[in-house]
Order: sequence, then structure tokens, then C-alpha cells
Amino acid sequence: MAKILAGVGTSHVPAIGAALDLGKSEEPYWKPIFDGYEKSKQWLAETNPDVVILVYNDHGTAFGLDVVPTFSLGVTDLYPPADEGWGPRPVPDVHGHLELSRHLAESLIFDEFDLTIINEMAVDHGLTVPLSLMCGQPEAWPFKVIPLAVNVVQYPPPTGNRCFNLGRAIKKAVENFDDDLNVVVMGTGGMSHQLHGERAGMINREWDNRFLDDLSGDVKRLVQLDHVEYMRETGAEGIEMVMWLIMRGTLNDNVKEVYRFYHVPGSNTAIGNIILENV
Ligand code: DHB
Ligand code: FE
Repeated sequence: MAKILAGVGTSHVPAIGAALDLGKSEEPYWKPIFDGYEKSKQWLAETNPDVVILVYNDHGTAFGLDVVPTFSLGVTDLYPPADEGWGPRPVPDVHGHLELSRHLAESLIFDEFDLTIINEMAVDHGLTVPLSLMCGQPEAWPFKVIPLAVNVVQYPPPTGNRCFNLGRAIKKAVENFDDDLNVVVMGTGGMSHQLHGERAGMINREWDNRFLDDLSGDVKRLVQLDHVEYMRETGAEGIEMVMWLIMRGTLNDNVKEVYRFYHVPGSNTAIGNIILENV
């Protein structure tokens, strides 16, 4: 049977992807960020999952404001990098796992999570930057990826509690898949950041670190946080962190934090990375 080995939380700041693509990763501004991900890269290479379920948000690339699905699941075998205005990133195509995607779609919808099915989609920085941070610059991504896109762009986004419960349903679905696949789930986006208006550039280190603490220590507190708290304490774009709660929901009640990295500045965002293993 398939099993979920671990969860990863990571930021997805697009400028990090550009820094890597343009050969700037050794520059003083970017080097501490790439250095901070070295342990995670090693861990992922050693863990060597067959499939990563990557929870992310599209930023007006695959979906405009004309269609805004709350939760949508990639159910195909190829997701090319999207053109976000400067041409597609020079990164490998993302290969899906069609059979596990089909199984997830069926299991989740029968479990009453009415996901939108995506049969064709290009993936933006929300998905490719986490892959770059966690894998570097390989010729091909070393595992299959199933994209799960969450609306955190257009009000109203889903609640943290709903996200956590979707994670629970994903856990059940994966554990009922017949093939012996090793799966890692990534929750991406965040941490505190606001890109526009009077509070642009705001960061909340204390709040972010308590969020990281409570991913292993007090998940019950995290799932009850409401949208206003994310907005007030972590900036307008901090709501991306509800996606980490989907990842957390796919893990056991008890998890062990095996790595944490937190760094400011990374463009306008507090960069966070955590690895949680099932115990
Ligand atoms: C930045 C962060 C994001 O999460 C994003 O989607 C775009 C930009 C930033 O910090 O620049
Ligand atoms: Fe974002």
C-alpha cells in the first residue's frame, strides 16, 4: 500500500526562482536562503519519495479571476512550467502520477470534498519554486508530482479547519492506494508577507515561529485561526499558510520536527521551511 512518510512546509517566493535561474544563488543576499535549504535538499534526496503531493496556489496564471476553484486537483501526467510574463522558467517539466491522481479524485469526492478536476494545466512559481528550493537544478525532477491548487487569492479562501480535514481525507486516500508508493506532502506559500498597500513588507517573526512550533506542538490552535488573524498578524498574503494545514492534516497526530529554517529577508516574505516526519 502507499504511505505518507513526511510533510514539508516551504515558502515559494518567485524572486528565489529567478535568483537560481539567473545564476545569483551565491550572491550575499540569496546565499543564506539557499544555504538554509541544504539540509532539506539532503533529507529529500535521502528520503527519495516516489510521489510528492504539492499543495500550492496558482497566482492568476492557470486560473484568472473568471474561474476561481477553491480546491483543484491535477489529474494528468504532465504539467509544464507556466509563462508568468517573462517566459516559462528554465526548469524541467513536472510529471504527474495519473493513477494516484485518479484514485485521489475518486476517494476525495466520495468523501464529500468536491474538488475541481484539472486535466490540463501549466504550473507557476507557487509549484516550481518549492521544487527548486527542495531539489536544486536537476535535469529532471526526481519524483512524480500531484498538484493540489488552493484558492488563497480571491476572498473567501477556505478555512484552516477545512484545509486540515482535506489533509485527513488525503491521508486516508493515499493509505488505501494499492501500489507501494512512498509519498511526501508539501504545503507551500507564506510565511508572513504583504505585497501591497501601507503595510507592504510587513513581517511577523514571533507569529511565524509560533506557527512553526505548533505544527508539531498544538495543531488544534492552528486549525482554529481565522482569516482575520492571518490578515492582521501576517499580512494579506500570509493566508497562504492555510495550505500548510492541508500538509499537516495528511500526517499522523504525532509528528517529529526534523528540520526548521526561518530567514528574513527573502524579497517581501519571511522564508520558512520545516520538515515533519510521522512517528
Ligand atoms: C512574493 C511572495 C509571494 O508569495 C508571491 O506569490 C509573490 C511575490 C514576494 O515576496 O516577492
Ligand atoms: Fe504567493
